[in-house]
Amino acid sequence: MTDKQDACPTFIMDDLEYNYIKHQVLSLTGIDLNCYKAPQMQRRLKAYLPRVGFANWPKFFRFLRDTPAELGKFRDYLTINVSYFFRDAEKYKYLQNSILPDLLRRRSALRIWSAGCSHGQEAYSLFILLNEAKNFEYQHQILATDIDASALEWARAGGPYTLDEISNVSPDLRLRYFTVSQNKYWINEPVRQKVSFRQHNILADPIASKFDLVICRNVVIYFETEAKESLYKRLADAIRPGGILFVGGTEIVPRPMDIELEMINVSFYRRQEPGQPAKTARK
Ligand SMILES: C[S@@+](CC[C@H](N)C(=O)[O-])C[C@H]1O[C@@H](n2cnc3c(N)ncnc32)[C@H](O)[C@@H]1O
Repeated sequence: MTDKQDACPTFIMDDLEYNYIKHQVLSLTGIDLNCYKAPQMQRRLKAYLPRVGFANWPKFFRFLRDTPAELGKFRDYLTINVSYFFRDAEKYKYLQNSILPDLLRRRSALRIWSAGCSHGQEAYSLFILLNEAKNFEYQHQILATDIDASALEWARAGGPYTLDEISNVSPDLRLRYFTVSQNKYWINEPVRQKVSFRQHNILADPIASKFDLVICRNVVIYFETEAKESLYKRLADAIRPGGILFVGGTEIVPRPMDIELEMINVSFYRRQEPGQPAKTARK
């Protein structure tokens, strides 16, 4: 899906058909399509039916009710899993050189949440950065969640990842953190144990903990404005004062001050400390 396509708000299904699909998808998968941008979701749905050889939706949904494996595939298709290690390398540099040292000055054991973690690339990138911060003994907790159970299975298995997905990993880090087998890369076993993967619907499930760093990147781009805004409020509430929200390269938190966040650099927002006057964003 390209940004160009997303910019064109052409609805390609009538309301009756889309309402029927939304109802079925919610009851079968728990995914509320009302929260996702309609034009791009409709395009994806429209492309799926011929792909699986069905002429109409009622027949397809009857088939899904009887065939759990196919239901899993359909769910995977609806949730777009593209990801790679150190996605936006310069943002990870800023994370490494400015954000993490600052967070580590405040607290030696960090709690981090990768929300919408796909196959685990983001969470493992985080682990590598923290583990490479040599001045600090590793005692952090990384929670990584996604709505997609099969993406989580992949993540827990530590791969396989393609050469493309690890193209931002330096040769030295590849050698130390990955094992290669048949041109595919696997995160080494001890690293896998350091990240907890859990299924979680970011739009609906409660967020119990407080985190020093929440990473939610390239997830909300698929959400409708209302869903996006209420999600950012819930994410901000899950961050400790002084903690950080790290969003995707094209994502902007609307009116961050309203939810006690201040933008400190492109893609990075800090949760305000009680009584602290808000500063302006760095240019
Ligand atoms: C494009 S991937 C982004 C992966 C990673 N954060 C990155 O930036 O590379 C989007 C992920 O969001 C997940 N997702 C979509 N809707 C979700 C929801 N309601 N709750 C949790 N995860 C969701 C998808 O399953 C998918 O793995």
